[in-house]
Amino acid sequence: MSSSPAAPPPLAALIDARYGAATGIGAGIADNPMLARILDRRVQRRYRAEPVPDDLLDALLACAQSAPTKSDLQGYSIIVWRDKAKIAQVADWIGNMPWIKDAPVFLLFCADVRRNRLLCERHGMPHGNDNMDTFLNTAVDAALALAHFSLAADAAGLGTCPISYVRNHLAGIRELAGLPDGVYPIAGLTLGWPEGRRPYASMRLPQGVVVHRERYDESGMMAAVAAYDAGRARREPLRADGLKNMKTYGPKEGCTWSENMARQESLPERADFAAWLRAHGWGLK
Ligand SMILES: Cc1cc2nc3c(=O)[nH]c(=O)nc-3n(C[C@H](O)[C@H](O)[C@H](O)COP(=O)(O)O)c2cc1C
Repeated sequence: MSSSPAAPPPLAALIDARYGAATGIGAGIADNPMLARILDRRVQRRYRAEPVPDDLLDALLACAQSAPTKSDLQGYSIIVWRDKAKIAQVADWIGNMPWIKDAPVFLLFCADVRRNRLLCERHGMPHGNDNMDTFLNTAVDAALALAHFSLAADAAGLGTCPISYVRNHLAGIRELAGLPDGVYPIAGLTLGWPEGRRPYASMRLPQGVVVHRERYDESGMMAAVAAYDAGRARREPLRADGLKNMKTYGPKEGCTWSENMARQESLPERADFAAWLRAHGWGLK
C-alpha cells in the first residue's frame, strides 16, 4: 500500500504560513483551536452591510475587559460608535481608508488617566503619577484591551482593523467623542462581518530576529532581514505606487519590506503629539 506524505499538523502549517518559511515549529504540538485562531488572524478591511448584534458586541467588550491590566488600575476607556454619521465623519477626516465607512461599529480604544485621578479625588488624595510611567501603563492597558477585543471578534466570525490615523485628527476626535482631559485614543478599531476574499496572513520576521534567548543578540539580524525581504517579495510583492511616503520618495519597483519601513521611519509622524497630550491633561515627566 502506497502512503502519501502525512499532512502537516494544522498548527505547524499555520506557523510556517506566518513566517513564510519551513520552521519546524509546532510539529509536536497537539491541535488547539485557540492557538490556530491566533496564528491565522489578520486585519479585515472589507465589511458586509450587516449589523453586529448588541449582545454580541457587549460580549466582545467583556472579552476586551478580560485583558490583564497594570496593577489592576484599568486605566483605559472604550468609546463605541454605531452612529453612521459619526463613523462617516472619521472616514472623511482620514480620507484614504474607505472601509471605515462600511464598518457597522467603530471603537476608540483610549488611554485614560482621568478616572484614576477622580478616584484619588474621591478618597481625598493627590494624584501623584502624572508622569511617563502612567502614560505608558495606560497605553499598554488600552492596547491589550484592543488585542483581546480583536481576537474575540475574530473568534465570533467578525473582522477588525486598528486605525492609528485617528491620532492625525485629535481635535476633531476629542470633540466628536466628548473626551475629557486625561483621555486620548491610542487607536480606533473598525468592526464588521467580513466581505469578499479573506486577506492573506501577513508574513512576520523570523523568530530569531524578534525573540532573543537569554540575551539580546543582533549579530545575525540584518542577514535574516535580507532573507525575510526576499521571502516577502516572493509572497507579497509591494506595489511600486503604493509605498510609504510616496510624496518624498516616489514609486519604486522592487522595493523591499525593510526599505519601505525605512521610508516610513525616516520622516517624523505626528510630531506635535506630545504637545497635544501636555495641553490635554497628560504629565509626561
Ligand atoms: C496600533 C495599530 C494601528 C494601526 N493603524 C492602522 C491604520 O490606521 N490603517 C490601516 O489600514 N491599518 C492599521 N493597522 C493594521 C496594520 O497595518 C496591520 O496590523 C499590519 O499591516 C499587519 O497585518 P495583519 O494584522 O493582517 O497581520 C494598525 C495596527 C495597529 C496594531
